[in-house]
Amino acid sequence: LLLGFSCGAVYDYGAYDPSRDSFRTGTFPDDFIWSTATASYQIEGAWNTSGKGESIWDRFSHTPGKVDRGDTGDVACDSYNKYREDVQLMKAMGLKYYRFSLSWPRIFPDGTEAGGVNQDGLDYYNNVIDELLANGITPMVTLYHWDLPQALQDRYGGWVNEELVQHFNDYARYAFETFGDRVKYWITFNEPWVVCFLGYGTGGNAPGIQDSSNSTYLCGHNILKAHAEAWHTYDAVYRGHQPEGQISITLNCDWPEPRDPDSSADVAAADRYIQFYIGWFAHPIYSAEGDYPAAMKDIIREKSLAEGLQESRLPQFTPTEIDHIKGTGDFFGLNHYTARIIQNRVDPTDTPGYSNDRNLSESTAPEWPRAASEWLYVVPWGLRRLLKFIKTNYGDPDVYITENGRSDHDEQPPIMEDTDRICYYLGYIDEVLKAIEVDGVKVRAYTAWSLMDNFEWSRGYSERFGLHYVDFTDPNRPRTPKQSASFYNDIIANNGFPE
Ligand code: NOJ
Repeated sequence: LLLGFSCGAVYDYGAYDPSRDSFRTGTFPDDFIWSTATASYQIEGAWNTSGKGESIWDRFSHTPGKVDRGDTGDVACDSYNKYREDVQLMKAMGLKYYRFSLSWPRIFPDGTEAGGVNQDGLDYYNNVIDELLANGITPMVTLYHWDLPQALQDRYGGWVNEELVQHFNDYARYAFETFGDRVKYWITFNEPWVVCFLGYGTGGNAPGIQDSSNSTYLCGHNILKAHAEAWHTYDAVYRGHQPEGQISITLNCDWPEPRDPDSSADVAAADRYIQFYIGWFAHPIYSAEGDYPAAMKDIIREKSLAEGLQESRLPQFTPTEIDHIKGTGDFFGLNHYTARIIQNRVDPTDTPGYSNDRNLSESTAPEWPRAASEWLYVVPWGLRRLLKFIKTNYGDPDVYITENGRSDHDEQPPIMEDTDRICYYLGYIDEVLKAIEVDGVKVRAYTAWSLMDNFEWSRGYSERFGLHYVDFTDPNRPRTPKQSASFYNDIIANNGFPE
């Protein structure tokens, strides 16, 4: 057993953590869901074979300079061919759930059913689902984990165009009809904040649009509508079948800790941070009033007018749209990795746009350990605070943690005794236990990112998040369990940390 693993100093997270060093023993509720996750573009490969259409990530990774070392998802983990082996890895860890995503252009190569359905793509996902079920593993399916058909990008300009709402709904309906007899857990969108801010703001992710005006907000607006549309499609047609299915969205957020908790300006800045981050999507879906958070509406409007615009860069929902979007989450899907220290900023100096609209500065504490990803600092207590925030502000929903994990550098020899990852999981999972037992947050699921090393977007294969090591230099892409895979297996087998 690795449960007694000593993580020593990782429990000292410094002055911001009042409960440091206090590890809690105990077990999770009997029906608690332990899962692991991947995403189509990050693992499948087979990018242009078996009838698959091009996605915006194919185009982006094939554009020189966009991804570190020129890496692409052309082959990735080759899960298109190796999914049976992947299922055996999960089985060996005692996993009963698996979250993965469908590649829209593998199903509709040009983005639409009218343009043709790719039978090989349907066969592939049917095979994955059947293989999971035959091995006692419940599938959780994400419809959109960032790989938009390039055809829809070319035709409409992507998510800034409202036409995509109907196209997404058609694709979602087709997926429900095709796989809904066996798939009972659905997630419409993975991390719309990342899709819109990095895809249409900084341009660091596909489709690589750099815009400090309103593209980021337009993208969010259309994704919220598309999510709601698909939720209603599912609700109207597929509800009431046994066992009843569930459908929601997965939102990501870092925990913002005010730099000086006694400064009302810093506390307000930390609140702005969270409203512009998770609130952007969670407030319209989960709050009692619906619509965007007041902080976003007021600040963006004020700044837009000051820039000489006629109206706010943040689009407005009509009352009918607000009602249509409100309540479209059967659970709260949460991806969480890290935290930030937030300070009020009085004098914003950078360009207009999403970042500047928030009037704040972000930093980190020197005692926070770092992962390989430059944005990833290890701050387990941030997860507990975020869970409590969700409980308080969004109607005490069932929370499914749909991702959490830590990266290592790609090193030789490879890091197989991944103590830092084990300690990350130990710390974060223990904070989930505290959230459930002490704060009464209804956390129903925990998902480790990721089953195996994979294509880490613009970082390519230089950052490894896997419980399994994948050798990307070997054409067979062999997988080898890291020590963290046994550790996670122990947690699952014990359902937590028994006395
Ligand atoms: C969030 C994304 O959903 C996933 O695709 C990514 O690999 C991980 N976080 C790690 O950055």
